[in-house]
Amino acid sequence: MRIAIMGAMPEEVEPLVARLDDVEEILYADNTFYFGTYRGKEIVVAYSKIGKVFAALTAATLIEKFECEMVLFTGVAGAISDELKIGDLIVADGLCQHDLDITAFGHPHGYVPEGAVCIWADPGLREIAKKVAYDQKVEIKEGVIATGDQFVADPERKTWIGETFKADALEMEGAAVAVVCSALDVPFFILRAISDSADMDAGFDFDAFLKSSAKVSADFVMAMVRKIDG
Ligand code: ADE
Repeated sequence: MRIAIMGAMPEEVEPLVARLDDVEEILYADNTFYFGTYRGKEIVVAYSKIGKVFAALTAATLIEKFECEMVLFTGVAGAISDELKIGDLIVADGLCQHDLDITAFGHPHGYVPEGAVCIWADPGLREIAKKVAYDQKVEIKEGVIATGDQFVADPERKTWIGETFKADALEMEGAAVAVVCSALDVPFFILRAISDSADMDAGFDFDAFLKSSAKVSADFVMAMVRKIDG
């Protein structure tokens, strides 16, 4: 089985690439894809660049061009829930797009016809995450992650997203990966470690904690890869 692991930024994938054996770089669609093996499993790592469009392009390429059979996403997020502190892990049970808005036509926020407000991540992969968390004695929170093409550093916007989508964290790529994977019927899993609280200090905190939180998330995903059959 060929497993894709995505991030959005170099800091999110460098700890993954560092662990691959026999790495080969393939350039495609204005991006670099890192082919390698980890504990005998075939892995393709890529960072998409930031935002929903780049994330959708990368997820579709990993599946359609490079024939990956599942997509794991690792990276950082802004916390909405007060329970989430910097460095904490959140596993998305559902993903929604907080900036998708055709409410002018009577539709709910995050919805377009023939779509869904929330797309659910693969239950089997979420179970594996729970087993890894148990083995490693780390806590993970499961909850909705809201995605949009905005870096949120505004308490009002954060509260609105939390209330509208019942979301616990926010970021800029997860729902795009979810849309692509669910349309192509490929199991996916989105993991994030908290880098900031999407408030007035978010820009400062993000810069300060991006690297350490990205590593927490990447290490956890690699532990999951060790547990995935095939
Ligand atoms: N990823 C990490 N923190 C974020 C924030 N505050 N807004 C959007 N994406 C993020």
